[in-house]
Amino acid sequence: MIKKPEGLLLVIFGASGDLASRKLIPALCDLANQDLLPDKFAVLGVGRSEMNDDMFREKMSVAIEKNINGRGCLDDTKRRRFLESLHYLSFDTSSPEGYERLSQRLSDMDHMFNTNGNYLYYLATPPGMYEVIVKNLATQKLNLPDNDKSWRRIIIEKPFGYTLDSARRLNASVLEVFSEEQVYRIDHYLGKETVQNILVTRFSNGIFEPLWNRNFIERVEITSAESIGIEERGSYYDTSGALRDMVQNHLLQLVGLIAMEPPAVADARSIRNETLKVFQSLRPLTQSDIEKNIIRGQYTTSVVKGERVAGYRDEKNIMPESRTETYAAMKFYIDNWRWSGVPFYIRTGKRLPIRVTEVVIHFRPSPHLLFTKESDRLASDNQLVIRIQPDEGILLRFGMKVPGAGFRVKDVAMDFHYSDLSDIRLPDAYERLLLDCMLGDATLFSRGDAVEATWQFIDPVFKYWNDHPEIRLYGYPAGTWGPENADRLIEGENETWRYPCKNLTSDSSYCEL
Ligand code: BG6
Repeated sequence: MIKKPEGLLLVIFGASGDLASRKLIPALCDLANQDLLPDKFAVLGVGRSEMNDDMFREKMSVAIEKNINGRGCLDDTKRRRFLESLHYLSFDTSSPEGYERLSQRLSDMDHMFNTNGNYLYYLATPPGMYEVIVKNLATQKLNLPDNDKSWRRIIIEKPFGYTLDSARRLNASVLEVFSEEQVYRIDHYLGKETVQNILVTRFSNGIFEPLWNRNFIERVEITSAESIGIEERGSYYDTSGALRDMVQNHLLQLVGLIAMEPPAVADARSIRNETLKVFQSLRPLTQSDIEKNIIRGQYTTSVVKGERVAGYRDEKNIMPESRTETYAAMKFYIDNWRWSGVPFYIRTGKRLPIRVTEVVIHFRPSPHLLFTKESDRLASDNQLVIRIQPDEGILLRFGMKVPGAGFRVKDVAMDFHYSDLSDIRLPDAYERLLLDCMLGDATLFSRGDAVEATWQFIDPVFKYWNDHPEIRLYGYPAGTWGPENADRLIEGENETWRYPCKNLTSDSSYCEL
């Protein structure tokens, strides 16, 4: 039985923005649909746009309809009741004046809904606003619980910082006002069901963990490919790029879960301690690593499925000479006992052929090859593929005998799809994370020290690229798998990245290009 949180007020800063409409409000509605919101509960949306409660409810009703997750949020009565719990306060959050009104409104709502002074703030504004909001909340003492039974928490959206220095500064400003226990730095990848399943696959099965180390694993590969471009987010993306947008946070968090040691217990502290150790063990990137082991690319105009697709530099709000990377691939090492010498490869990009996020564990070949004479391949390529999205599931590849004379070996796959569990709906990441935070469980949120450790690893790349504009930025036609020489990163003769829909007939639903 999942616990229901105690009564609380949820304050969404940036409530008229894209994230609230696309993710937060639909996720809350899904929670309401499952009776997982507190009995005493209300939302206060805060934003610059002028709206009253009714207008906000109307706007969010449309957003829910548009962004509903699968079969979620369907019960009409529950949906209506949820919409009635939404309220709105319009003020300019960049100036101190409005915060007194905010404080008064929260106090009124607290009495009205009997929420015991429990306030959860969600910062869904542009990141430039985070420090101002935090400071102003403190001026009104909105960071401090009313009594020893109430609490105040704050969720901070990514990007958490722009460089190592700015991440440190932001951490320091937030921690001047809130304690670490009150702060929930969100990385929505950690809320994905299949990402959490990495922990279960590794630590609740006897068969994988004994093999999960340098003795049996040859390399680890993580891909997060998107077929979409940058859509309407040009002004943000052009100052960000793939490394900041995806690698520093989402992909390194996946590395943390794949590479961590077994935690002593499954609680926030132990799990976050173990992922931090992984980040601290990332081998610092030297100048030569940055030159040789990182490939960056940018998509160019192309024709995809018969339609002309604009190149990155032709997109809205992009500088015509922009050198922002829309693709990044890199190789690195984790210097610890378990992973010594095992290369890790990660890549991500926009406008690749398909949308897929997966982790591929490549096992070492068998030590003595018995059937080489009769097989086309030297040895079976044993892989465990953890498909994060779409078509969530796990695939294990191994060699089998081809029926008939002799001993020809063929690669086959055992393939589990979550969709086979037909009665199960995969919750959206935000649904899980909002609920966890309401319950005070920080396991799936990043701790300040871990965020700084990932920045510490990635920051030298930005500095080096900045100082060395001559480092190549490869163009790749939209709809292709990125710069071809990203394959050269992979160690081993004839080895390449796994191209999910190119060489595996068993990869199914998302492969129709
Ligand atoms: C966001 C990035 O954090 O993650 C986006 O800013 C990216 O650029 C998105 O598209 C990917 O998330 P998902 O859940 O669709 O894989």
